[in-house]
Amino acid sequence: MARILITSALPYINGIKHLGNLVGSQLPADVYARYMRARGHEVLFICATDEHGTPAELAAAAAGEPVAEYCARLWTVQKEIADGFGLSFDHFGRSSSPQNHRLTQHFAGRLADAGLIAEVAEKQVYSRADGRFLPDRYITGTCPNCGYERARGDQCENCTKQLDPTDLINPRSAISGSTDLEVRETKHLYLRQSLMRDKLRDWIDSKTDWPVLTTSIARKWLDDGEGLQDRGITRDLDWGIPVQRGTEPWPGMEGKVFYVWFDAPIEYIGATAEWADAHPDSGGWERWWREDGGAEDVRYVQFMGKDNVPFHTLSFPATLLGANADGAETWKLVDYIKSFNYLNYEGGKFSTSEGRGVFMDQALEILPADYWRWWLMSNVPEGSDSNFTWESFQAGVNKDLADVLGNFVSRVTKFARARFGDTLPEGGDYGPQELALIEDLQRGLVGYQAMMDGMAFRRASQELRQIWVLGNEYLQSAAPWAAFKADPDRAAATVRFAFNLIRLYAILSRPFLPEAAARMLAALGHPEDGWPTDVAEAIATLGPGHRFEVPEVLFAKIDDARRIELEGRFAGAA
Ligand code: 2FM
Ligand code: ZN
Repeated sequence: MARILITSALPYINGIKHLGNLVGSQLPADVYARYMRARGHEVLFICATDEHGTPAELAAAAAGEPVAEYCARLWTVQKEIADGFGLSFDHFGRSSSPQNHRLTQHFAGRLADAGLIAEVAEKQVYSRADGRFLPDRYITGTCPNCGYERARGDQCENCTKQLDPTDLINPRSAISGSTDLEVRETKHLYLRQSLMRDKLRDWIDSKTDWPVLTTSIARKWLDDGEGLQDRGITRDLDWGIPVQRGTEPWPGMEGKVFYVWFDAPIEYIGATAEWADAHPDSGGWERWWREDGGAEDVRYVQFMGKDNVPFHTLSFPATLLGANADGAETWKLVDYIKSFNYLNYEGGKFSTSEGRGVFMDQALEILPADYWRWWLMSNVPEGSDSNFTWESFQAGVNKDLADVLGNFVSRVTKFARARFGDTLPEGGDYGPQELALIEDLQRGLVGYQAMMDGMAFRRASQELRQIWVLGNEYLQSAAPWAAFKADPDRAAATVRFAFNLIRLYAILSRPFLPEAAARMLAALGHPEDGWPTDVAEAIATLGPGHRFEVPEVLFAKIDDARRIELEGRFAGAA
């Protein structure tokens, strides 16, 4: 049994995520966590909301709420939706937790002690009316390029030109509207990542089994030097983790907070600490994060979209390695990064700001989670970007879920009920047809496991579907409804075999379809954990006299009228 730490990229707090966000980190992480738990491993699956930064402050302001209240509310919203999708986090934390405050300040102190933090004097816009320095996007004014009057200090939304706040004509504070602004000198902290380039390169070079998508992005940033510029890790915001050097104040840094991308990955550890604090028998977070504290045998796997790769291959490892410069704290580095391309929506981009695409709450209002889980995972953007269309979704649901898996379960249970009552019949024996199928299934199982172990989810879903198909083909050729009159024993043996297939399918499908699997097992009166290694053994579990129920329709088909209605409803959101 292995110990596996799994983290999914932390969703930003501001608003409900769309299906592209879901398939790029949380959902595949969940499928993997469920699979590894079923295989008997000790799994800790961690996620949290990423709560700091300007977007959170701006979203709270737009909602007319204090930012702390806004974040608390949105955390609950995101948590409920995650539950609705069956995301089986062991803990869903918050990057604003006291645990993360302490850890982030601790890391900053360690990095400073190691000489890896520089204090840099910068000129920045100060608003006397607001009594604070303003981040670039908190300053608005007229664009010098196109004359747009509400251009932001970092960029003009109208002509997309990148700007400096000092470029703006008639600059004013976005908070108060005040024009009483001046440029003052202020200090910021920089993480001296450039000093760690060689260490990071050696580490990346040692990861020969990583997906090319992951390593190529990391190398690009290492080689052109861009990613390893020293990086500012402090900001002038109210909402965030106050800059401290460990538990000590940091002279000159009063009123500043850490940059969101500094504290967000540390929240992987913070959330583990939140979980450990809530579970006093857990053995503590150090067991998962400190190689000098019991984590030396942990395998750590991260899931994320490709845009997150630089932070996870360079910046966060720089923090963890840098904090161990004196060898006194050995932090657990990631062992495998599974990264994803993008999911598009009907040929364009999903867009949160434009409300384009299907959002997680809307999806659950339309159909239960398993429908989405299946389509998303069997079309997961692994090798390249993939594209959600309602047509493809309809086809996936109807052809895979309804026609193959759902149909098998329904035909078998309904026929058995009609002919044999509410228990499995006696008589007959498994013959050559069953033995041949067992061999095919065993091969299918081995192939499926290989894909799941390797996190090749698209191919894993194909292997799983093929296992379902084998059952339908068997049923078609054994045709118990035809055999029933002439050879009732043969029909009885076929039915028992098919029921054992339902059980096998439920267990194997559970990582992808947890809810349908639970319903299948409930119909068999056989809730259970575990994983089959030997199909011949697994297929001999349910015997004569075993009680069963006919489950409600597992998957309803999406007809054309419904598909057209959904296409229309979501077309308006663009
Ligand atoms: O891109 C994003 O959605 C970020 N909120 C991911 C953060 S991952 C981790 F570092 F916290
Ligand atoms: Zn402009």
